[in-house]
Parts: sequence; C-alpha cells; structure tokens
Amino acid sequence: MKAKMTVNKAFAISEIDPRIYGSFLEHMGRAVYSGIYEPDHETADTKGFREDVKALVKEIKTPIIRYPGGNFLSGYNWEDGIGPVEGRPKRLDLAWKTVETNEVGLHEFMTWAKEVGSEVNMAVNLGTKGIDSARNIVEYCNHPKGSYWSDLRRQNGAEAPFKIKTWCLGNEMDGPWQIGAKTAEEYGRIAAEAAKVMKWVDPEIELVVCGSSHAKMPTFASWEATVLEHTYDHVDYLSLHHYFGNPNNDLKSYLAKSVGMDNFIKSVVAICDYIKAKKNSKKIMNLSFDEWNIWYHSHAKDSKNEPWQQAPPILEDIYNFEDALLLGCLLITLLKNSDRVKIACLAQLVNVIAPIMTEKGGPAWRQATFYPFMQAATHGHGTVLRHNLEVATYDCDEMNAVPYVESIVIHNPEKNEAIIFAVNRSENETVDLAVELQGFELTNVLEFSEISGHDIKQINEKNNEPVAPTTSKEATVKNNELSAKLQPLSWNVVRVGLK
Ligand code: AHR
Repeated sequence: MKAKMTVNKAFAISEIDPRIYGSFLEHMGRAVYSGIYEPDHETADTKGFREDVKALVKEIKTPIIRYPGGNFLSGYNWEDGIGPVEGRPKRLDLAWKTVETNEVGLHEFMTWAKEVGSEVNMAVNLGTKGIDSARNIVEYCNHPKGSYWSDLRRQNGAEAPFKIKTWCLGNEMDGPWQIGAKTAEEYGRIAAEAAKVMKWVDPEIELVVCGSSHAKMPTFASWEATVLEHTYDHVDYLSLHHYFGNPNNDLKSYLAKSVGMDNFIKSVVAICDYIKAKKNSKKIMNLSFDEWNIWYHSHAKDSKNEPWQQAPPILEDIYNFEDALLLGCLLITLLKNSDRVKIACLAQLVNVIAPIMTEKGGPAWRQATFYPFMQAATHGHGTVLRHNLEVATYDCDEMNAVPYVESIVIHNPEKNEAIIFAVNRSENETVDLAVELQGFELTNVLEFSEISGHDIKQINEKNNEPVAPTTSKEATVKNNELSAKLQPLSWNVVRVGLK
C-alpha cells in the first residue's frame, strides 16, 4: 500500500508544550509503596526510593508528574504528609479501600521528582476539603517565607519554595464514585473561588479545572459549559480524562480508538470556544488531557480485592504489542491537537496502569507501552506541522473510514531535524510512505526506529523485554523526499536531518 504525506514549513499547528508528555502518580496500589519507594529494596537510596525505578523514570523523560491523585486526592489531607514521618497518621483511603501510611508525603515526593528531572503538577482536594486547604498548600509550597505555612515548610527542611507552576482543582468531581462529588454548579462555584485565592497567593501559577471524567458521562458537555461559565476568567486549562480498552478483542476497532480521542478533544474545544464567544472573551481556554491510557486488562482481577490492605496490587495492567500500537496512535492524536492540548498525563507511571513495573524485592522493567512514549518524549519537540495524508481507509465496528496510517511531522529547528511518528494499522500490508517536506532541504536519515513483527498479544516481563524498538534501514532521502517502509502493524520513528 502507498501513502503520501505533504507538509509545508510555513503551515504549523503549534509549538509543542513539553508538558504534553506528562504522566501521573497516585497514592494507590503499588505506585508509591513498592513502586517508587521501597526502603528495604537493594537499590534503595538513603531516603528509601528505588534507584532502579528512578533510572527508568529518567529514561522515559516525562517532564511533569501529576500528584497525588486521582480519586485518592478527594479524601486526602496534604498536611498528613508533612513533618516527622513517625508522627504521621495512618488513614483509610475510601477511594481505593486501602490504608495510607503517609510515609511518603509532600517533601519526599518533591525531592524524588527533582531527582528524576520532572516538575510536579499538584492537585488540591476539592472533595472533602476546599478553599482554605487549597490556598494553604499554595502558600506552603510557593511562598518564600514570613508566613505560617511558608515558615512551616522551611522548618520541615525546605528553605527554598518549591515553585510549583501547574495545579489541578480537584479530580473527576462529576463522578458519583468521587468522595465529595458535586453538580456542575456546585463544583464551578468552589473551583472559581479556590482558583481566585490560589492565584492571590501566587499569581504565577496555572490552574486546571475538571472537565468530565470521560466522554460518555451523562453530563458530558453541559458539565464543561457550566463549569466554564463559573471559572473561565480564573483558570488556564480544562481537563479531559479517557481510558481505552479492547474487551471484545477486535484489533481493527481497537486501533481506531484514537479517532474517538480526536473527536472527544474536538468536542471539548468546541465547548470552550462556545463559552469564549458567550463571554465575549479574548482568552483561549487550553486543554489538559491529564488522564489517558489503556485500562482494561486488570478489571476482572481487581473485582476480587480484599479491602483495607496497605499498597495492594491494583490496576496492574500487563500491556502487549497491540496496546503499544494504540498508545502510539493516541500520542500522535495528542500532538495533532497540540494547538489546544498543552498538558497531557499518561495515567499512570509505575505499577498502576503504567509503563514501568516493579517486583517487590525484585527488578523493575519496561512494559510494551514504555517505548513509544519514551521515544515521543525524547524526540517529539519543536513545531507540529499541518499535513495532508493520502492513504487508504477501512471500516470497522466502531467507525468508518479509519486511515491505515496515523502519523505526524514535527520540525525541530534547534536540532535541525524533522521527526515523523507513524503507526501502520494494517495487519498484513507494508506501507510505502512518501513524505514531501516543502520548504525544507533534507540531508539524510538520522534514525529509523520501529517496533514491529510481534504477535499482537506479546508482552514484556521482568528480565525479558521483546517489545522494544529496533533499527530499520528502510528509509531513504532522494530528490528531497523521504521514503520509509512501514511494516504491517508497526510503530515508527523517522528522524531526518535538515540543511
Ligand atoms: O488512574 C486511575 C483512576 O482513574 C484515577 O484515580 C481516577 O482519577 C480515574 O478514574
């Protein structure tokens, strides 16, 4: 099969905000305890954090991590996680029906995040807590000194403020499963008031207000509109959450799910712009897709969990090759919408629906989905270019006219290169992809890396990671045009040098 992509240097979608490669770490399951933190582990540092996990988090290059939840957030007192560890309370976490020991709290997490080279996207509890707790945590983290909370931070060992820039106003507040769930009116009001005073404490911060928990929520669209009516002038981003699965084992429909993500984003953009017009505002509301991933493998197992354990294994999806392909399509979809999607968080980072897995007392390893994410976060920087793609399409149960190729071209002027990410959705046809990069002079192929040739159910395990990129030689530059062979069912990264 042949495919032709045409881009022009002058036609850009947007500069990529690196926070589009964000991730998420919640106090749930084994994400924190026996994930990033395991004091008895042979690689533990002096503070109890696993060095082997730190190395993988550095490798995946996520620039920002949303913390501490998730559903956990809506019952969390951030004050439980500061001060001497011995004095911290053990609490029931009603969201996941577990026991939280608070051994890891604000300072421990901030120190760890700095060590792995990530910023923190901090979320404030608007479930059981409210405006007071929200303004206090901003004061604790970001105010230099000379006030109760900032001086308490200094007393607790952090002289310099943490300077956290990105903050979430609660989590999935429309969901009946959420502790302190709210109507759109109730949430819109409290979010606006919390936002106002948080910015009074630190005008430099940016705020994300909760959109719907997913696109199929019964209040989807009206929730966004009402919440934005209240908060438009006070917040910077509206959140989107969505998880994807393949419960019917239908590969064609599964790989088409990124088209659904694209539709979801476009609908939310339309709602934001409707409120913009209604308010006659100059401001553009951008999006934070701060929970996205594949989540379905662990559902059956998790339904049998005993309550009130400490750090039980929950949501431990084991990802396979077809998941890596869909994850690649989802990443490309986020990049295609990078004019509005400025922040996105792969949910989550370690053990809980995560690209990184650990064994308690054992090794850490990269799941199949680790690699497309890592390669995008490593190379996907610069300006996303608008493209025209000519390629055959297919129909499936979910939708019609799904292009066989999902792809994007990025121009990185600093490195003088063009980067192409592409997924071939066809099960049996190689795609001969021709890319015409108008306005550029191409030199040579710097890298052509692919993940292909696996059984679609192939997984990675400890000490065995078969689903990983390999180098291909089947890309060339000729007559200022790039040609690359995309193997059937493949994730591809092509980097081309520019004059
Ligand atoms: O990421 C797992 C859970 O999914 C989060 O806690 C919640 O926000 C979402 O429903």
